[in-house]
Amino acid sequence: MSDNTQARKIAFIGSECYPFVKTGGLGDVMYALPRALTPLGCEVRVFLPNYACIPPKYKDQMLYRGNFMMDLCSDGRQFYVGIMELVMDGVIYDFIDNREFFDWGNPYTGLWEDIPKYCYFSKAVLAVMNYMEWIPDVIHCHDWQASLVPLYLRTRFDGTPVGSAKSIVTIHNLRFQGICGIEHLKYWTGLPDYLFDYPVLKQNENEANMFKGGLAYADKITTVSETYAEEIQTSFYGEGLNGHLYYHRPKLKGIVNGIDVQLWNSATDKLLAADYDYDSVLEKKIENKRALQEQLGLEQDDGQFVIGLISRLTDQKGLDLVNAVFPEMLDEHTQVVILGTGDPRYEGAFRYYEGENKGRVCAYISYNESLAHLIYAGADALLVPSLFEPCGLTQLIAMRYGTVPIVRETGGLKDTVQPYNEETNEGNGFTFDWYQADLLLDAIRRAKALYFEDRSRWNDMVQRDMAKDVSWENSARKYLALYEELTPEEAAE
Ligand code: ADP
Ligand code: GLC
Repeated sequence: MSDNTQARKIAFIGSECYPFVKTGGLGDVMYALPRALTPLGCEVRVFLPNYACIPPKYKDQMLYRGNFMMDLCSDGRQFYVGIMELVMDGVIYDFIDNREFFDWGNPYTGLWEDIPKYCYFSKAVLAVMNYMEWIPDVIHCHDWQASLVPLYLRTRFDGTPVGSAKSIVTIHNLRFQGICGIEHLKYWTGLPDYLFDYPVLKQNENEANMFKGGLAYADKITTVSETYAEEIQTSFYGEGLNGHLYYHRPKLKGIVNGIDVQLWNSATDKLLAADYDYDSVLEKKIENKRALQEQLGLEQDDGQFVIGLISRLTDQKGLDLVNAVFPEMLDEHTQVVILGTGDPRYEGAFRYYEGENKGRVCAYISYNESLAHLIYAGADALLVPSLFEPCGLTQLIAMRYGTVPIVRETGGLKDTVQPYNEETNEGNGFTFDWYQADLLLDAIRRAKALYFEDRSRWNDMVQRDMAKDVSWENSARKYLALYEELTPEEAAE
């Protein structure tokens, strides 16, 4: 906490949070950022849906904190709102309980069901804050699922205690916006008609866009890297909202993500075959490569260059490029390990390559936290050739584990991976700029050339990567500064 300010109360609202429910990086941020803000003097509470898919070991720790009925739809339908609470490492998690909405999905189902689900959630969290008489200074909303909060705050909750709070909407991924028919959203939200106009919720003649409305009404907008903050104001990256974001740019800021360096710590990681730190990496990391090869049925060979890829399998992640260069990327000195699920066309393609190259390629089509840890530690390089990447966490985890990232220069990848400079022997990884398969292949070849032809320089990079600060510390301070800027009246006398 800065010396002359009071603690800020911050509410985090989002649709996923590790370790309860996670499908991607949003879950990591919802876990790690509150933990980084707490030592800075913030009192953070995280609000989440009480999904049926949350593992029983967490459900068993939740305590019932009350319930009430809430109206939601334009016809005044009433819905149950229960509050279940869990405290973990000093952070309070409040789970909004309602079986009608949260008993299906993992946690998502499809927009038809997800839109009513997150309309309910966005309104319920504000009602819960009033009910519990816990009034935050700032409500920090994450992605489209929480983006109706600023609209409810300034309409239905105006003049109620929680109405005094300021709001921030953070864009983790602009691809998903919560778009549906205007009448559908009018019905489920019960929000006033004047909000369904072009500057706010209206997308086109027939459709409304939840993210668009939230961005318009938020006091500040952030996104998860400085480069992505610029990119989304252009038509290529703006997903149809570039004009809207350009208009709102005075309140838009990019703050790069970090990772939780306690959770991701190769010196204490229980999921590794051998722990290692900066001093022991060059000697001990290889034991994880051996364990990975053994576990995945790859040829046991220390001399192989092992390339990892850990990702949701969607076109965002540059998998078309990976597919295009797969045969050329492989040779008798290279192994490839893919961990991911998603689009069947990528799952099928990677399975095919595994079938054709038994012992050299493993396509592990699944979501598996433990295996992810072993790949981060056991691979030599990690591929992240994304088409777009708001921030990206896998390259940060890789660097922390001494695994060299090979990335496309976009979004947070550009902001976090300094390209290798062979003149000065500086940099953290291998990069390429245009979205072209031959450029990806060239980056992979440059990485392999250094690995096989100049191991001592490769090793320098491994150690530089491990020493790089990828923690939340700097970025958490930037969020704190933003909270303070929004609530100057909280400054102490
Ligand atoms: P995104 O949020 O776009 O999916 P990020 O790089 O921000 O991408 O975060 C991805 C997170 O999900 C990382 O923590 C990564 O380790 C994890 N992850 C992705 N796919 C898998 C998988 N199949 N198994 C385990 N962890 C995964
Ligand atoms: C999104 C983005 C990813 C980012 C993550 C956490 O899912 O795709 O780039 O790291 O959110 O902010």
